[in-house]
Amino acid sequence: MTLNDIRQLIANDIAATDQLILERLHSDVVLINQIGHYIINNGGKRLRPLMVLLSAKACHYSGKDHLIMAAVIEFIHTSTLLHDDVVDESDTRRGKKTANEVWGNAASVLVGDFLYSRSFEMMVEPGLMRVMQVMSEATNIIAEGEVLQLLNCRDANTDEHRYMEVIHRKTAKLFEAAAQMGAVLTKQPELEQPLADYGRHLGAAFQLIDDVLDYTANEAELGKGVGDDLAEGKPTLPLIYAMQHSSPAQKQIIVSAIEVEGIALLNEVTQIIEQTGAIEFTRQRAQQEAILAKQSLQSLDDSEYKAALITLADLAVNRTH
Ligand code: IPE
Ligand code: IPE
Ligand code: MG
Ligand code: MG
Repeated sequence: MTLNDIRQLIANDIAATDQLILERLHSDVVLINQIGHYIINNGGKRLRPLMVLLSAKACHYSGKDHLIMAAVIEFIHTSTLLHDDVVDESDTRRGKKTANEVWGNAASVLVGDFLYSRSFEMMVEPGLMRVMQVMSEATNIIAEGEVLQLLNCRDANTDEHRYMEVIHRKTAKLFEAAAQMGAVLTKQPELEQPLADYGRHLGAAFQLIDDVLDYTANEAELGKGVGDDLAEGKPTLPLIYAMQHSSPAQKQIIVSAIEVEGIALLNEVTQIIEQTGAIEFTRQRAQQEAILAKQSLQSLDDSEYKAALITLADLAVNRTH
């Protein structure tokens, strides 16, 4: 099963979600429409809404609120990207200039806030307190993750444990909420934990691979800058592993790249990462997370939707963008 096969499986729901995203993006304030449509129309893989839709189907949901929640999750994701690109001073996203590059930081932050709060208006619509509990907790944890990461930036003492704390919060938590939504909407509390575990492991795998791609990807295919993490002094797992498995001289190069030099040492650091097997190690860690994600689904009834969720875990690891 490919990603396209998965999308075919729920093509109608995806089209309805896309339509809803466009409708709910609307505001009478011109700049909000401009920036909102700019970032939404630039695409994105829409993996998180896909997960909401599949999770709902795998839980035998027959209503319409999964469409709203898929749009809510994509709005939250998009708002975190608008904020993230300001914080990270990134200039490319989804193959185009970032919104902060085109309209500046203030506009990006404020439109990010608009999407955030629009998502809160929308998540009230299913009329379920549990939806609001899960979503409000998720957004709060994501914010913690971004702040924790800020504290780790330019700190070469960051270890794997501190790194995992960040990625569980900033990335895995939203995948967790997305996956959990099927159980929440169908009011099957016994399925919440298995689906949440699935989403958390998949989300961790997704970010581990993102951090590999930041050193190995083709920039045009990735649609964002390669080497950005080093430029920011971000101690991701490839760097952490390389520091722990290199000579004292090599370690010193990585430490100074993290602390001050950043992108100026990209070639040297990339070489050390390759020599120490840090990419392979990080890929293996992602693979382990994907296996745990798939195992988490054991208690769900077999269906083509469950099979699609299982495939999605493999795709998160094998992706090139
Ligand atoms: C980017 O997420 C942010 C991370 C958590 C790495 P995606 O790679 O899902 O971004 P889009 O939505 O497809 O652009
Ligand atoms: C993405 O984090 C933002 C969140 C998960 C909130 P990163 O900064 O690691 O991802 P990219 O590389 O900009 O997409
Ligand atoms: Mg970023
Ligand atoms: Mg970031």
